Formats: sequence, structure tokens, C-alpha cells
Amino acid sequence: MKLKIFVTVLLVVCVGAIFLLKSNNNGGNVMAAAESTTKVNGGKKVLVAYFSRTGEQYNVGNIKEGNTAIIGKMIADKTGGNIFEIKVEKDNYPKGYTALTEYAQKEKRANERPAIIGKVDNFADYDTIFIGYPNWWADMPMPVYTFLESYDFSGKTVIPFCTHEGSGLSGTERNVKTVTKADVKKGLAIYGHIAQNSRTEADKKVSDWLKELGF
Ligand SMILES: Cc1cc2nc3c(=O)[nH]c(=O)nc-3n(C[C@H](O)[C@H](O)[C@H](O)COP(=O)(O)O)c2cc1C
Repeated sequence: MKLKIFVTVLLVVCVGAIFLLKSNNNGGNVMAAAESTTKVNGGKKVLVAYFSRTGEQYNVGNIKEGNTAIIGKMIADKTGGNIFEIKVEKDNYPKGYTALTEYAQKEKRANERPAIIGKVDNFADYDTIFIGYPNWWADMPMPVYTFLESYDFSGKTVIPFCTHEGSGLSGTERNVKTVTKADVKKGLAIYGHIAQNSRTEADKKVSDWLKELGF
């Protein structure tokens, strides 16, 4: 009889211990999910928003990952930032390079604001927003204007980065400033073919620039 009671108590204790361990693990997962919504870097919450295209691009052939996307992911990796990819609702951009340049030129001349998919969750929580884009006709692609005009950037730090094939940022930092009225920091311009084909070199450029900015 005594043995029966002892075994029953032991069983209850074991089941209880397993239950406690399990619920602690679940707690950890919830925490991890909460942290991944807005990551923290030295107390600063960082967002990396970018627009980038795949398909045929200048100097790199047919690419599966956009040049700017590659740099955007490096920045997010190094700063612990969250990524928001700026994508248009109606994607009519041609996959061929020449056709894309013509399409983009018309879009720019018409000063269009193509609608973009989705919204950044909890935008107000972010202190620093990196904004990335390919240099298109010495300017930002029009969907980037749509994005910048969709949020209140007052009191925030905005840091532009672009990929290009010779023109650098083409003064787009000024346009970012005009639209956001934020504190706009020194941008990074990096050749698209370097981003695509020389990752180590690109990685070093990104790291050096981030260090200069205090990250
Ligand atoms: C529509 C269009 C216009 C472009 N205009 C310029 C330009 O004015 N100056 C420049 O240096 N590169 C220009 N490029 C090259 C892109 O900036 C470069 O290939 C970039 O890395 C593409 O990035 P993505 O793969 O992220 O879209 C242009 C490319 C396209 C498609």
C-alpha cells in the first residue's frame, strides 16, 4: 500500500515537472516572436525598407536577387533591423532591362505614385529607417516616393542607400530630406555589380559605412 502511494506521488511530481518545463519553453517562443517584431540596436529600433528588382539588370545579366535587396539584407543583418520590401500592387515592370528603363522613364515623367503592398507594422516605434533603392534615371524609383509619403518621419533618423552603375546617389539624399523632413544621414552608394558579384567587397563597404554612422 505504502509503495502504491509513493509511486503515485512520484508520478504526479514527474508529470508536474514536465508540464512546467514545457510551459517555460512556450514562454520563450512567445518572447522571441515579440522581439522579432522590432529589434533593438543600442536602444534604437531599426527598419530597413528597400525597393529592388530581379530580372535583367545592367552589367549583371538575369538576376534572382536584386542588387539593392542584397545590400538591404546586409544592413538588416548588421544592425538587427527589420526588413520591409517595397513592392507595387500592380507589378507591370518589364523583366528586360531596356524595356524596364523605358517604362521607368515614363513613370518618372508622369510623376506617378504607384500603390504599394502592405504597411509597416508599428512604424511609430522605429527610430532609424534605412531606405534603399536602385538609382533610376538619377532619381529614386517612384514607388519609393509612395513609401516615403505614406508615413510620418518627424523626429526620426533616415539613412539612404542605393545601388547604381556609375551615377552614385545622384543627390537623392536631398529628395529624401525634402519628402521626409527627417534627420537624413550620409548615404551609401554601391555599384550594383559589386553587390551582386563581389559580396566580400560589398560587405566591407557596408560595415565601414555603418561604423562611420556609429553602428
Ligand atoms: C530604369 C533604370 C534606370 C537606371 N538609371 C540609372 C542611372 O541613372 N544611373 C546609374 O548609375 N544606374 C542606373 N541604372 C542601373 C541601376 O541603378 C543598377 O543596375 C541597380 O543596381 C539595380 O538595382 P536592383 O537590382 O536593386 O533593382 C538604372 C537601371 C534601371 C533599371
